[in-house]
Amino acid sequence: MGDILGNGSVEQERFQIRRLEVSDKSKGFIEILQQLTVCDSVSDQQFEERYQELAKLGDDHLICVIEDSQTGKIAATGSVFIEKKFIRSCGKVGHIEDVVVDSSIRGMQLGKKVVEFLTDHARSMGCYKVILDCSEANKPFYEKCGYKQKEVQMVKYFI
Ligand SMILES: CC(C)(COP(=O)(O)OP(=O)(O)OC[C@H]1O[C@@H](n2cnc3c(N)ncnc32)[C@H](O)[C@@H]1OP(=O)(O)O)[C@@H](O)C(=O)NCCC(=O)NCCS
Repeated sequence: MGDILGNGSVEQERFQIRRLEVSDKSKGFIEILQQLTVCDSVSDQQFEERYQELAKLGDDHLICVIEDSQTGKIAATGSVFIEKKFIRSCGKVGHIEDVVVDSSIRGMQLGKKVVEFLTDHARSMGCYKVILDCSEANKPFYEKCGYKQKEVQMVKYFI
């Protein structure tokens, strides 16, 4: 990994960021999500149905992936959802979710690349802000991505 870390352009070529495609299921997309949280196996049909459902939302829901061209596997992912509001002159807010990098290649700026890609998308969609929830342990990572802590998260689980 040393020569890759020392050569930004090689790294750029190896790790391309793009939108999720249906074929990414066979490239380990679900396995990457399993490194983030509980994610039971998803059948090809379930995957395709959910994919088509999300595709209907167009640019209001973006899932990005980084593919490792050396292995053909998905190396990282993240998503952003654009919420349309009445407040702030019918403003829009981006919500970043499900950011994860394969455990074998963390620390190579891929997480930052994902967050910057999602943030740029929210900005280009006209959002006045973009928000996310994270653990205390991940706070320094998001600070490196230009985020700051504000208020607290509240949650009620139904399962
Ligand atoms: C959090 C996560 C996405 C970071 O991805 P990554 O590719 O390892 O992070 P990057 O290499 O892009 O890090 C960018 C910067 O943040 C720093 N950083 C990353 N994680 C950090 C941490 N936990 N604590 C302190 N700094 C951290 C890096 O050192 C780097 O700093 P630098 O730019 O000065 O070199 C990754 O560790 C991960 O997938 N974790 C498990 C899933 C998870 O918790 N996702 C977040 C859900 S909110």
